[in-house]
Amino acid sequence: MSVPKIMTIYGTRPEAIKVVPVIAALQRDERFISVPVSTGQHREMLDQVNTMFGVTPSYDLGLMKAGQGLNEIVSRAMVGLDGIIEEEKPDVIISQGDTSTAMTAALAGFHRGVQIVHLEAGLRTGNIQSPFPEEANRRIIGQVASLHLAPTAASRENLLRESFDSSRIVVTGNTVIDSLLKAASWDTPFADPALADAAATDRDMVLVTTHRRENLHAMEEIGGAVQELAQAYPDMVFVLPLHLNPKVRLAILPKVENLDNVIITDPLPYDQFTKLMDRSKLVLTDSGGVQEEAPALGKPVLVMRENTERPEAVAAGTVKLVGTDRNRITTEARRLLDDADSYAEMANAVNPYGDGQGAARSIAAISQLLGIGTRLPEFTAELAA
Ligand code: UD1
Ligand code: UDP
Repeated sequence: MSVPKIMTIYGTRPEAIKVVPVIAALQRDERFISVPVSTGQHREMLDQVNTMFGVTPSYDLGLMKAGQGLNEIVSRAMVGLDGIIEEEKPDVIISQGDTSTAMTAALAGFHRGVQIVHLEAGLRTGNIQSPFPEEANRRIIGQVASLHLAPTAASRENLLRESFDSSRIVVTGNTVIDSLLKAASWDTPFADPALADAAATDRDMVLVTTHRRENLHAMEEIGGAVQELAQAYPDMVFVLPLHLNPKVRLAILPKVENLDNVIITDPLPYDQFTKLMDRSKLVLTDSGGVQEEAPALGKPVLVMRENTERPEAVAAGTVKLVGTDRNRITTEARRLLDDADSYAEMANAVNPYGDGQGAARSIAAISQLLGIGTRLPEFTAELAA
């Protein structure tokens, strides 16, 4: 057999953060030819990650458009990827997570008869409308995948419940922890002067991120909650690295931009964001990746959603679902900021998502799929404890 070609397709910031360890491992491994492909569904936010980790995609479709619709992204990505798949003829396509890029990459590869490997397989809320469209995307990818790289035992259970072949499921740990451990070791200074000054004081910091499509209607509630908290805790600093989606900015900025103790920044480079999570006392977010990272740093997370496909840190007590109602967000945040016992109960460093070996287990599982290697022992939360 000739050297197998592995095409890793990605397009947004979180996919990039989670595939870079896999791309780096493939590139080091002489058993594979690695072809990283970007759809460019995101631009600045994706380029930040590629630059930081030194990845240059072999192809970049440059798809991002302001206010892009789902069908527009999917149809343009499908056409663009098809030409690249036809040209490169990969043996395997890796699709990560649940974005429009990931779903399209899996379907485009499947249509061309390529084996699909789903990295971060088996996450489920059980509600096809939430998160939208991600829950549908990951289920579609699962249907066409030959190998399911489930981050945790719970995600494997979800797949088994849907009758996927157990021999095609491998628990790898989430590769986000590979990237987190690497970035955390860099200790990069904050480039934003206001953030650098605030971080150098002993003031408590609260980190807020929001971007989910199904939360766009609730952004003013979320902005209102941050405004109320910032006014109630003038000694604390609230930091909002705002997603570049103009709809997020328009809704959030009017509520918070004139408050002295609120720092608004552009999306932070991943190493600085990691440092900020570590510096923060509390994290409010609707992000998937942040729900995985903050618990590993021992930071309590209030998730501004009604459900989550990441139940492990909720079970460990470090993450709590609070929805998007302004009063509920502020009540839960106040409880943690005012009551040291409640805070201490949630501030336990837990690492149910990975141990930094997610990429190595993923590559080994792919080598077994291709008949050129064997799997490694699976990830268990005890390994990361
Ligand atoms: C996408 C994913 C979501 C993921 C999120 C991570 C889908 C359907 N959604 O949502 O699952 O959680 O990425 O952030 O795939 N923009 C820029 N520059 C950038 C990135 C975005 O200006 O680098 C702006 C553009 O105006 C763009 C808008 O943000 O139209 C929305 O981007 P899009 O990729 O459509 O959706 P996200 O909400 O980012
Ligand atoms: N992140 C970052 N800079 C920021 C905000 C987030 O590097 O300013 C990282 C974060 O650490 C996590 C990822 O981006 O790894 C999450 O991306 P996002 O919340 O956009 O998407 P999701 O994970 O919800 O799909």
